[in-house]
Amino acid sequence: MTAIKSREIRLISRPEGMPTKDNFDLVQTELEPLQDRQVLVRNLYMSVDPYMRGRMNEEKSYIPPFELGEPLTGAAVGEVIESRTQDFQPGDIVTSNFGWREYFIAAPQDLHRVEQEIQPLSIYLGALGSTGMTAWVGLNLVEVKADDIVFISGAAGAVGSVAGQLAKIRGCKVIGTAGSSSKIEYLKEYCGFDEAFNYKSGSVLEKLESAAPDGIDVYFDNVGGEMLEAALSVLRTHGRIIACGSIASYNATEPPSAPHNLPNMTTKRLTMKGLIVSDWLDHQSEFEREVGGYVQAGKLKSKETVVTGIDQAVSAFIGLFEGKNIGKMVVKLK
Ligand SMILES: NC(=O)c1ccc[n+]([C@@H]2O[C@H](COP(=O)([O-])OP(=O)(O)OC[C@H]3O[C@@H](n4cnc5c(N)ncnc54)[C@H](OP(=O)(O)O)[C@@H]3O)[C@@H](O)[C@H]2O)c1
Repeated sequence: MTAIKSREIRLISRPEGMPTKDNFDLVQTELEPLQDRQVLVRNLYMSVDPYMRGRMNEEKSYIPPFELGEPLTGAAVGEVIESRTQDFQPGDIVTSNFGWREYFIAAPQDLHRVEQEIQPLSIYLGALGSTGMTAWVGLNLVEVKADDIVFISGAAGAVGSVAGQLAKIRGCKVIGTAGSSSKIEYLKEYCGFDEAFNYKSGSVLEKLESAAPDGIDVYFDNVGGEMLEAALSVLRTHGRIIACGSIASYNATEPPSAPHNLPNMTTKRLTMKGLIVSDWLDHQSEFEREVGGYVQAGKLKSKETVVTGIDQAVSAFIGLFEGKNIGKMVVKLK
């Protein structure tokens, strides 16, 4: 069999501030011949995610940094092309952490088979993938329940739009914020948020106070900084915060200047819980059953911003920090 040629994206220098295309290289490689107990997969979709920015820094965080000169990794959905194990057959659809490349060879334990009834398959990177699961775990962690008033930042993105819809399914009042008028319309008309406002026009605190005159019970934080500061002001006594992400500071070269009002944690007896979705993989089947059920019943809608071609993956990634996506940003591989 002739060797499979595959293109992959490598990190060649560490970004300072906002990443640029010069930090990356698109390289063509040839795969090694397939060995026993190995599976050859062609990626159909790959994910770009804000957390990847942290892995481009030199410092170790909760996961090690990406190595310079090596291909990036991340979530992907692919089709099995050839298999030397009973566990997978050609045509199977699998998720993996071998994104940022067109083809790869893996051991069966590094692949997760997905059902194909729900289409498009890119949903397994979004609502039924790790961003959807992040939303689900976050709401569970702070026990979001009927009649809670829930405020979500980064609401029109992958995690936020699923978190808001799941909170609506639980009977909450849901308020979201995002960075454009088309995203506000998406939140209200498509995702069913009760209130939504554009954080880029005017004071976040004033807009949040006006959307939630009686305060909020839960803040789902995807952004940090000033958004967290506004939420700390508006949270009710015994309110809860899900510390999911802080995208406002991922490209920052200085420490964040907000929040200034952390003492509210004490005076209002607030609870703040951090979450890393990969700690919850034992609950993946439960998540897929519950949230897959909502998708199939039409109770939860999934939207993706799809960019085509591995040569567009870097600009799709940078686009996350420019607000270019509505719903999950995914790259379709040709
Ligand atoms: N803890 C975990 O395990 C876990 C897992 C997945 C994701 N996360 C976190 O969850 C958050 C959302 O991730 P996602 O995958 O769903 O990404 P996403 O929301 O789909 O995409 C990023 C969005 O963030 C907004 N944004 C970018 N820069 C911003 C800024 N400076 N201030 C405010 N908003 C900004 C943009 O929308 P606008 O147009 O609205 O600005 C952009 O579209 C991130 O913080 C991510 O790190 C955490």
